[in-house]
Amino acid sequence: MRSQGQAAWELLLPAVGAPARRRGRALQEALREAVRSGRLAAGTRLPSTRALAADLGVSRGLVTEAYEQLTAEGYLRSDRGAGTWVGGAARAAVPGVRDPAAGAPGVRVDFRPGTPDLSLFPRSAWAAAQRSVLARLPHRALGYPDPRGLPELRGALAALLARRRGVVADPERLVVCSGVAQASTLLGFVLGARGLRRVGIEDPGSPEHGRLFASTGLETVRLPLDEEGLRPGPLADSGVRAVVVTPSHQFPSGISWSAERRAALLDWARAVDGYVLEDDYDGDFRYDRAPVGALQGLDPERVAYTGSVSKSLAPGLRLGWMLVPEALLDETVERKRTMDLGNPVLDQAVLAEFVTRGAYDRQLRRCQRAYRERRDALLAALAEHLPGTRVSGIAAGLHVIARVPARFGPRERFLARAAEAGVALRTLEEYGTAGPADEDVRLVIGYAHLTPSAIDTGIGLVAEGRGRG
Ligand SMILES: Cc1ncc(COP(=O)(O)O)c(C=O)c1O
Repeated sequence: MRSQGQAAWELLLPAVGAPARRRGRALQEALREAVRSGRLAAGTRLPSTRALAADLGVSRGLVTEAYEQLTAEGYLRSDRGAGTWVGGAARAAVPGVRDPAAGAPGVRVDFRPGTPDLSLFPRSAWAAAQRSVLARLPHRALGYPDPRGLPELRGALAALLARRRGVVADPERLVVCSGVAQASTLLGFVLGARGLRRVGIEDPGSPEHGRLFASTGLETVRLPLDEEGLRPGPLADSGVRAVVVTPSHQFPSGISWSAERRAALLDWARAVDGYVLEDDYDGDFRYDRAPVGALQGLDPERVAYTGSVSKSLAPGLRLGWMLVPEALLDETVERKRTMDLGNPVLDQAVLAEFVTRGAYDRQLRRCQRAYRERRDALLAALAEHLPGTRVSGIAAGLHVIARVPARFGPRERFLARAAEAGVALRTLEEYGTAGPADEDVRLVIGYAHLTPSAIDTGIGLVAEGRGRG
């Protein structure tokens, strides 16, 4: 589920103010009421007893007791070793309870892609890194930073990215920024200042790319994909000299670009004296085979590599990086300087500490395990509830494409019934210009933020809906 740690402790804070002898009871009542009222929805994962006790400033025993009591009453469900969740009985008691993070009334299960599981944010490891940084950072480090970022963070990230993503990572060419979003904006301005008027984006692709580059004054040109990557013909005919691509796990189709198309794209960039902006938005997560190295490793002078902690830690941290071709470096750094004089120093120092301690690798391993399990739960739920559905893009990332056979449709009715059942879905067509090729329903299903039981419930609801149409 999405971030429930934060939601949980905020809801429970008033109980902490109760006199010591009634605090345990008050905590249980507050937790029960949060579940009953739907503020903690079915399937919501609760923080560990240790994390919640630390957040609330109460003893761990008090939290353990509350969890045990509510588990016995059926409000919560505990899987030994796996954690504690809001149970299904509570959902039955509160019909139509929505995921409080979903943002849309009536949504019970939200399969829209793009969000990691925010409750997996490593609060204690982050807090430890924060404490250590605050204890050792000299006063002078709190002045305006180098606009490229703190040297220790650039060094730590360069080593991490070279090792994990196979990029050519010179710390001198690494610019810390506030996510792929800012990286794209900076590069859009730099390319615009060099006289480029248009930038190619993938079709289908992330709507965010179009918006970001449009905000820098560039016209965006949609370039069609096939199952191997960008089609070379339309790319060559387009006349653009810059493209933004997601070759490791294309968003949203989930394909990994073929080696031939990667090579062809770089040949094209050299031939037109152009640039490729590589958005490695979920390259950290690869399940069934070794990760596909980033495109940038093949030609660091033509490819600007961009990434962030948005999928691995939390998008709200607004921390990311870019590796910039030498020819664009000075202008990019100057843009970054005039835009915000650099990223916040403490956040950078904490991330550097976090990476250097090995906590980032541990976090990736933890998320990888959880997300693989959820992906498998999704595949199993589709096989059970919507048999015959073909799934692609499963080897990596936080979403898959599911092609539901037309016999479960027709499409409009299928989607309307899912919405009626409280399941939020996105179709592939929403991300591109190509209309549906047939009556099959092509869904882009995000699963990483959902528990296995919520995934099963959601797909079950979609399938049940077909009986009611
Ligand atoms: C494909 C893709 N890349 C990047 C981003 C933005 O990422 P960040 O949080 O790193 O700015 C988004 C966000 O919508 C996205 O959809």
